[in-house]
Amino acid sequence: MQQDLKFDTLIIGSGAAGLTLALSLPEHFHIAVVSKGALSEGSTLYAQGGISAALDKTDSTESHVEDTLNAGAGLCLPAAVRYVVEHGPASIRWLISQGVKFTRENGSKPDGGYHLTREGGHSHRRVVHVDDVTGREIQTTLENAVRNRSNVTLLEQHIAVDLINTTKLGLAESHCCGAYLLNRHTQHVRTVGASHVILATGGANKVYLYTTNPDSSSGDGIAMAWRAGCRIANMEFMQFHPTCLFHPAAKSFLISEAVRGEGGKLLLPDGSRFMQRFDKRAELAPRDIVARAIDHEMKRLGSDHVLLDISHKPKDFIQEHFPMIYARCLHYGFDMAKGPIPVVPAAHYTCGGVMTDLHGRTDLPGLYAIGETAYTGLHGANRMASNSLLECIVMGSAAAQDIAENHGMARSASLKLPPWDESRVTNSDEEVVVSHNWSELRHFMWDYVGIVRTNKRLKRALSRADLLLHEIEEYYGNFRVTSDLIELRNLAQVAKLIICSAMQRKESRGLHYTLDYPEMDDRIAPQSTVLMPPNFAANHRPVDWNLAN
Ligand code: FAD
Ligand code: SIN
Repeated sequence: MQQDLKFDTLIIGSGAAGLTLALSLPEHFHIAVVSKGALSEGSTLYAQGGISAALDKTDSTESHVEDTLNAGAGLCLPAAVRYVVEHGPASIRWLISQGVKFTRENGSKPDGGYHLTREGGHSHRRVVHVDDVTGREIQTTLENAVRNRSNVTLLEQHIAVDLINTTKLGLAESHCCGAYLLNRHTQHVRTVGASHVILATGGANKVYLYTTNPDSSSGDGIAMAWRAGCRIANMEFMQFHPTCLFHPAAKSFLISEAVRGEGGKLLLPDGSRFMQRFDKRAELAPRDIVARAIDHEMKRLGSDHVLLDISHKPKDFIQEHFPMIYARCLHYGFDMAKGPIPVVPAAHYTCGGVMTDLHGRTDLPGLYAIGETAYTGLHGANRMASNSLLECIVMGSAAAQDIAENHGMARSASLKLPPWDESRVTNSDEEVVVSHNWSELRHFMWDYVGIVRTNKRLKRALSRADLLLHEIEEYYGNFRVTSDLIELRNLAQVAKLIICSAMQRKESRGLHYTLDYPEMDDRIAPQSTVLMPPNFAANHRPVDWNLAN
């Protein structure tokens, strides 16, 4: 049996959000950073296009704010947008101070300014990047920094199962005081106490059959927060990236929006352009519009893909700007410099999540959520490209500040936490139940809760999700937990949250499009969809929305 562990701060997730937080806390804090696989593995590692900030002389905070609000289709919280955007330039400087080497205008010459690329929805060039592997550079740089911190314990290959609330100890006051972590090597569940627990677990895009995301994006943080009694907002706004390589072996490999930003055009199979029929910004319209237009054209023509063409640019230009994408496409037999490549949309980003204020605090005292797991109000009904990494850095730092300021008030460190109870479970007799349900879930979510929805499809999806949830809970109650079972349980929970949120919205807005209500409802002020867990009242200190507004 593994020993219990205690920390000042327990950070669940080691992507841009979690590592920024770890590096921004005072060095006398005793911190744990948990990752369910290797420390590097998460969406951050795969980010391509870059990170947005108004850095150019002709650009401004106001313009970045306005573009973000426009992309968000009326549902962004203006105070959240302003907060994150205003902290953009300082966040880039912080990343540079950690060692991130953004691509410069004059190649590698140190006197050149940073090269700014363009992406959908941005009215200026404002995306700093490291070629087309921005995420890899950010992840490895922050990882190296954190590995050099003696106050940080890294718990790799540990998957969080659930949060621990002080009410479980019989205390009247509700406070998050730790989490149960399954050590994937030993298969034992460890009890880990902490004064502050942070969910930095990334998105939930694995709920769909086709996704740009790595396997880690199974919505664990959102599901854990829901079970702990926190409100979850705007889950109907799952973002589909318009352009992933269409090839059976490519696993929805992303073709960065920066390819369109640098002049790439979308074409139908007959070679004609179509985006200008859908939006005057054509290929650089916000993602919801481009993904829906592609879906529409594919269905209209019965085609299984459209084309993306940047071959009118010189080969040197393509190889210099997109070295990784160029090489990967070549590996699959497509030379971007010679002709168009086949592309399709795939699930990419979770705009909704655990409701937080602008300190990253959730409804449950002691529990924070940051990065893609959280809903701060920044993205509204559709995230603008490259605003996500920015939010990870800004909110990682904001949460660190809040935790450091309130640390003196924390009392959880002295509590004796109940160990994980395995007295009534046995080893699973049929692992196939897990793999079958996993596959079924991702298929029906893709078919019924994808880019275009209807009441009937959502209803079908709901009855299947309920059935699966019931079956999974029964299985969970009888058998020892495994990482696959933990993820499946979370995916099924998050699928239900997505479906319920989509059913509540009786209009089409941003990423939520339904044939039953194809128009935006402008009769009332736009509202976020907020789902209230059954145990919400037993908590808490609800997030103060005035802080965010
Ligand atoms: P992640 O980086 O996903 O990290 C999640 C962490 O949580 C991992 O360490 C994982 O192991 C851990 N974890 C999850 N569940 C558990 C659990 N139960 N127990 C323990 N640990 C757990 N955004 C941009 O702004 N610009 C871009 O150019 C860009 N390009 C992208 C390209 C791709 C292919 C993808 C997939 C996304 C891209 N995004 C981009 C989105 C952006 O990368 C992500 O939103 C962001 O990196 C999320 O960071 P995060 O720290 O919140 O989570
Ligand atoms: C991309 O490079 O197209 C991804 C950018 C993002 O998701 O913000």
